[in-house]
Amino acid sequence: MVASVIDGKKIANELHVEIRAKADALAASHGVVPGLAVVLVGEDPASAVYVRNKVKATAECGLKSFEFKLPAETSEAEVLGIVERLNKDPDVHGILVQLPLPKHIDSDKVLGLIDPDKDVDGFHPLNAGRLSVGLPGFVPCTPRGSAILIEKVQPDLSGLHAVVIGRSNIVGKPMAQLLLQKNATVTIAHSRTKDLPAVCRTADILVAAVGRPEMVKADWVKPGAIVIDVGINRITTPEGKGKLVGDVAYAECAEVAGAITPVPGGVGPMTIACLMLNTLDSAYRAAG
Ligand code: GUN
Repeated sequence: MVASVIDGKKIANELHVEIRAKADALAASHGVVPGLAVVLVGEDPASAVYVRNKVKATAECGLKSFEFKLPAETSEAEVLGIVERLNKDPDVHGILVQLPLPKHIDSDKVLGLIDPDKDVDGFHPLNAGRLSVGLPGFVPCTPRGSAILIEKVQPDLSGLHAVVIGRSNIVGKPMAQLLLQKNATVTIAHSRTKDLPAVCRTADILVAAVGRPEMVKADWVKPGAIVIDVGINRITTPEGKGKLVGDVAYAECAEVAGAITPVPGGVGPMTIACLMLNTLDSAYRAAG
């Protein structure tokens, strides 16, 4: 079997067009332009790329962005002060603090201060709780985007087994919650799971979110399975070139899977599209 490729870039671009139409409609009806504030502390190069892509997407979708680029030495109190100001600013419907933050800043403290109704990343404990009990709230963007990709291939997950590799609060846990809501039988696997390849081989839907380059091999994949690769890892090839790869050994797994996301061009663009969706939702809610 050769897997069909799930084109996240194309699906994300289609979402951008829909978001733009809805943002324009909100501006026409209520005079409200959805606004996203992005806070970046320090010079982490990967974070700088992510933030640039997020700001570019806001413009494409007809949203307003407010960028705060702060030096690495910025104090925790200053970051908390900015979040407090953004919480009160009626032009800001979404607040995103790019992670990781420098070590002297307590991320939990910063994320916990964001108004849960502007928490478009869905990282606030209140939104994590809402998701786990099935209440409406912001869903983290990567799992939300991954769920949309899965739905495109397989709308009905009843009776299917989903294995999520990775138990982070940002991806693994919310991904498992979303799959459970869609009636999949869900296993969360992680670094201490016994015989991880054997567990993965039982998956109809396999989501890899571990941050280990090309860890998932072809013999971990059940023939015909849907494979969603959340990883974005920068590696150096034997020829000395830089290259982005996922957590899945793409070429060999594509020979076994039924459908698979590439890296880049799979989950990454969907994460950004869902950030735009969450910001749009927030602005519609604020406009009543
Ligand atoms: N760092 C890596 N991914 C993310 C994300 O989705 N949101 C934020 N805020 N920081 C990140």
